[in-house]
Parts: sequence; C-alpha cells; structure tokens
Amino acid sequence: MPQAPSLPGITDRRLAALLTLLSENAMIVISGTRIAREIGVSRSMVWRWVEQLRKLGVQVKGQHSSGYFLERVPDILTPDLLRKRVKGNLFGKRVLHFFKTDSTNRVAMELGYAGEPEGTVVMAEAQTAGRGRAGRVWHSERGMGLYFTVLLRPRLSPAQAPLLTMLAGISAQMAIQAQTGLVPELKWPNDLLLNGKKLGGILTEMHAEPNTVRFVIVGIGINVNQEKFPAELSASATSIRKESGRLTYRLELLARLLEQFESDYNQFLREGPSYVVERFQTVSSFAQGRRVRVDTGLETYSGTTAGLSPEGLLLVARENGPVVTVIAGDVTEVR
Ligand code: BTN
Repeated sequence: MPQAPSLPGITDRRLAALLTLLSENAMIVISGTRIAREIGVSRSMVWRWVEQLRKLGVQVKGQHSSGYFLERVPDILTPDLLRKRVKGNLFGKRVLHFFKTDSTNRVAMELGYAGEPEGTVVMAEAQTAGRGRAGRVWHSERGMGLYFTVLLRPRLSPAQAPLLTMLAGISAQMAIQAQTGLVPELKWPNDLLLNGKKLGGILTEMHAEPNTVRFVIVGIGINVNQEKFPAELSASATSIRKESGRLTYRLELLARLLEQFESDYNQFLREGPSYVVERFQTVSSFAQGRRVRVDTGLETYSGTTAGLSPEGLLLVARENGPVVTVIAGDVTEVR
C-alpha cells in the first residue's frame, strides 16, 4: 500500500492563491476584506500571510487598514500561474511549490513511492541540500535559479531511463534559446554549459525492477538570475544573467521548458531511443571530435569523442587505441 507522503514546508494552497491574486492585480490596491473573501480565509489570516510573504522576500506594499498591492509581479514560481500557463500539458496537472525544501528530487522520489501520477512537478525557490551528480551539492540560492523535478512513469527498461537525462537537456537547451537567444552547449550526459562554464545540470533517479521502470524523476537545475556564485564555484559556474546581462522571468522559462519536454518525451515514447540519440548528436557539439579525459574511477585515459552508441552511451576514440564506450565516469574536455 503506498504511503501518503509527508511534505513539510509545502506552500499552502491559500498562500499561493494570495500571491496569485496580488500578482494578477499588480499596482492595484486590494482590500483585506476582498482578499479574505476570494481566498476563503479570515482577514487576520490575510494579515499574517502578508507578513509571511514579506519574510519570504515578496515586497507587499500597503497595510491592513487600506489594503495590499504589489509594485511589480514578483519572480516567484506561483503554482497557479504556472498551471494556467501550461494548461492541458502533462505537467500542468499537479504542481507542488516550496519556498524552501532540502531537495526537489528527494520530495519527488517520496511522491513516486506514494503513487503520485505521472507529470507531477515539484519546484522550489531554494534548496538546502540540492543534489548534484556524483554526490555533489547543487547550489540553490533563493529565487535565483530554477530548481524543479518532474515525475514520470514511462514504459522503459532501466537501461533506457538515462536517455531521459539527455532528452531533458535537449528540451532545456531549446527553451533557453527560445527565451534568451543564448544556446548552451550540451555536454554528455547531463551538463548545460555556456562559455565552458556550468549553466545547468540534470539528475535523473529511478525506482525500477530488474526489467521495468516503476518511476523516474528528472531533476533540473538552471542558473538563471545569479549575479555571483560562492568563491568555490565562481570559476566553474555561470548564469543566464551573467552571460546576457539581463534578468529572465523564471516562470516563463520553466513553462517553455515543460512544454518542450512534454513534446520531446512523447516523441521519445513513440519513436524509441534513436530519437534521443540522433537529436543529441545533432545539437551537442561535444559529442563528436572533442579532446577529452575520461576518469572511470578505475582508470583515466585521453581520447576524442566519437558520437554516441545506439543506447546513448558516449564513444571515445582512445589515443593510439580503439573506440571505447563510456559507461560511467567523469568526462572532461581537454583544451
Ligand atoms: C548535476 O550535477 O549536474 C545535476 C544537478 C541537478 C540539480 C537539480 S536542482 C533540482 C533537482 N533537485 C535536486 O536535488 N537536484 C536537481
């Protein structure tokens, strides 16, 4: 019997409704009485929630006696606005929002075990223990990046599930290009880079039986509006803002990405692995002809990337040696 998940910190539906109401009426003063009526709580509750939003960094103007308003629409991933924006989409049915959680992948994994439906989206403004590849931590500063995870229940074998990481990378690249004009490079299997620095990453985890996937969670992190990074990341990480000099509306980027991912996902399920492998090779300049060093944990070798195998694994022509398949390990470009 699936366990009901415990979701400490999930944004209260009515708090989200308050945020949507204020966002949709930016610059318009709305009385506490009207807010209370529309979201179905008492006036004193409205006041308490306005205080809570302020603590979370939303600049709500006005006061209890006159009413409240926003001077501009805050860049918060308001679940109601996202649902409206991606209406009819697989990812528009169930959207869970956290102002802060440890990891959206951790939450989505729990939801997967609890039997949540395919398409559930978990998004957070901040993560305290964002998971990166190889046990690394994903730096998740509040309100600056996109940190979200989607839950999928595809009919795939466990060996095919990693293709979803590559597919999500392709969808993210397209969405970023459509919204900002920047074209991140896709580095096999899960990195999005701009000018050689990390812009985003994807972490796919799954629950599977020997031959069948029960569910897969695809966690995506994109650095969007960060102006700077902690010292230890400043040489290796970048953001859309740092590269373009402009702020990006995260909700719109997320909506585009989810729309693109739904369409790519359906095409993958219809056409099979070759769809992902061929597209990845077309859009990733890294997949062919790049000098790399591969560290498998057991050995380190140099070579040149030589495309992907039909299963989506990276092929590397070893220096003075054969073409080998990289099954696991760190691949670094040698410039
Ligand atoms: C990588 O190391 O490149 C993968 C990073 C994946 C980070 C995202 S942020 C949203 C989701 N939740 C997590 O805990 N990790 C992923």
